[in-house]
Amino acid sequence: MAKWVCPRCGFSADLFSGYYWKCPRCGSPLDIVFEPVYRVSGSGLSRHSGLLPFPPLKSIGEGGTPLVVIDSSSRLLFKLEYLNPSGSFKDRGSSLALTYAYRSGFKRVVEDTSGNTGISITLYSRVYGLEPVIYMPRDAPPGKKKLIRLLGGRIVETNSRGEAMKKVLEASRNAFYVAHTWNPLYILGASTISYEVYEEGEIPDYAIVPVGSGGLFLGIMRGFETLYKLGLIKKIPVPIIVEGVSSYPVYKALHGEHGLKGTSRLADGIMVPEPPRLDDIIIALEKYHGRIILVNDEEIKTALRELIDYGFIVEPTSATVWTAYKKIRDELRGKDILLPLTGSGLKMIEELLKIMRE
Ligand SMILES: Cc1ncc(COP(=O)(O)O)c(C=O)c1O
Ligand SMILES: [Zn+2]
Repeated sequence: MAKWVCPRCGFSADLFSGYYWKCPRCGSPLDIVFEPVYRVSGSGLSRHSGLLPFPPLKSIGEGGTPLVVIDSSSRLLFKLEYLNPSGSFKDRGSSLALTYAYRSGFKRVVEDTSGNTGISITLYSRVYGLEPVIYMPRDAPPGKKKLIRLLGGRIVETNSRGEAMKKVLEASRNAFYVAHTWNPLYILGASTISYEVYEEGEIPDYAIVPVGSGGLFLGIMRGFETLYKLGLIKKIPVPIIVEGVSSYPVYKALHGEHGLKGTSRLADGIMVPEPPRLDDIIIALEKYHGRIILVNDEEIKTALRELIDYGFIVEPTSATVWTAYKKIRDELRGKDILLPLTGSGLKMIEELLKIMRE
């Protein structure tokens, strides 16, 4: 049976005996431990239920995103995560988190986020008949706020991220606090990306992944690790993680200040100054001999235009992987490179129009 487990202090509890967004004993991020079985049937996220702690209950088409392969100086494997139901890979984790909330009998769902996760949680709350309340800073992107409202989410505006966090904690006493930057269901959701890539017959040499809270990165690595442990693959991709020059906690922890010019405000999805799983990110990066690439707004704008030339309508945060690839293209010659394209540009038409006109 699946269990909550704290890798730091050893706390353990049956998964459905109670909900913990962090370890109730020592406050660390929790893991979910279970016996994965490679048994596939059906489509989308539920296809890999044997590799998840429980199956998603109501599918609205999450997962099973296209893998577009483009032969260039490397083989580029673009995983179109922006084609998920709410326009980002977050739907994989939200599908599991909201299944959990529904099965556990919660009625209200609360979260502090300004971006894609808020939209994703609101959509899945609606599907499961739960009431979402999203706490976010007043200056969050207007297009994303509108979509949350359209989907029936109640937005509580705050003066800062810190205030959003404080208020959501108060509200979490009688609601399901998703806490996506802590919640291991978002890692497990993202692990299905790797299962899908494997089933397309691809085991990339490298994976270039944008890192905010690290859920996507840790998920992709966990997926390939699980396939490796099950004896299905013989190598694990070398990770290349991407951070912005304005917010680079992983880079800072490993190498200190960077001294580069510019800002990376456009990459709002990876502006997470204190990711709760920083230690795990560093461990995974070092274990697989990966590296970090930092990007700025000017580079992101160019990359975004180029991705749209390819036909990929993504948001600026997603274009960071293309920027990173171009910086080390020569080193990656002849290799197979996984590039997840994480979020849809259709939520940010005004911002994209501005970038395209510049
Ligand atoms: C479009 C997009 N890409 C990448 C990320 C980074 O994902 P993670 O927080 O799992 O590292 C986010 C997070 O919000 C996002 O919205
Ligand atoms: Zn603990």
